[in-house]
Amino acid sequence: MAAEEEGLKGPGEARPAPGPETRPEPRLEPRPEPRSVPELLLGRPPMARPLPSFDAEAAPAEPGPLFVDWLATALAAGVLDPQVATLSTVDADGLPDARVLVLRDVDAAGTGWVFSAAADSPKGRQLADHPAAALTLYWPPLGRQVRVRGTVERAADQVAGAEFATRSPDARIGALVGRQSEPLASLAEYDEAVAVARRRLEATPDAVAAGHAVYTLWAHEVEFWQGDADRRHVRLRYTRTGPVRTPEWSRTLLWP
Ligand SMILES: Cc1cc2nc3c(=O)[nH]c(=O)nc-3n(C[C@H](O)[C@H](O)[C@H](O)COP(=O)(O)O)c2cc1C
Repeated sequence: MAAEEEGLKGPGEARPAPGPETRPEPRLEPRPEPRSVPELLLGRPPMARPLPSFDAEAAPAEPGPLFVDWLATALAAGVLDPQVATLSTVDADGLPDARVLVLRDVDAAGTGWVFSAAADSPKGRQLADHPAAALTLYWPPLGRQVRVRGTVERAADQVAGAEFATRSPDARIGALVGRQSEPLASLAEYDEAVAVARRRLEATPDAVAAGHAVYTLWAHEVEFWQGDADRRHVRLRYTRTGPVRTPEWSRTLLWP
């Protein structure tokens, strides 16, 4: 996962991978022994704090500008990893699956939501079989959720190759290792695969991971959800009525 997070930082210099014994650990506060889940969660209602207001009537005609506004607000509010979104897909049996990944781009209108992934991973196979998905972002300090649903299109290999080249060496090494979500016998086996991928990248700096894919989720719906400590949540749903290249959007206020 470190490789994915490196991908957030853009291109950089290759550096030796820190071994587990040298990697810094976060400083964690002392805590009471965990008991049961209800006990741990008792008296912790979500969003019980001052939250921003959302004037849905003043919202722009398209979801794109509103998303940029909310993202900028999230960054200004110190939201950690605001670009991390939950991607939901369905498998061949119709069973939902979900995982977080990094949102890479959103077009100006808010129609195309771009992310990348390994095409031979479970999510990649699910998208190949059933090219539809949802993306969900939640920014706790602001009590804001953004929900996107639509169909998914895989970009041409040239697009994926160009995107791959923008990634940091560590992110590229992680992708070159591949085999995402396959059973792993030991962490030593993984470290060895990383060393092999590192040597490969040093020998061929423009190597592209075989299954690296860029996907666009073409939104049918985008919902902006502003939480409220008194449960007067404000929800605005944009529904696309036009084609993806020339979208038109209708706006609907929703019961919370
Ligand atoms: C903060 C964070 C960011 C992540 N970013 C990505 C990403 O950009 N791409 C990706 O494929 N997986 C990313 N992952 C890992 C996925 O959540 C998931 O474990 C992996 O993609 C395998 O999913 P799959 O088995 O459903 O294909 C990220 C995980 C976390 C916690």
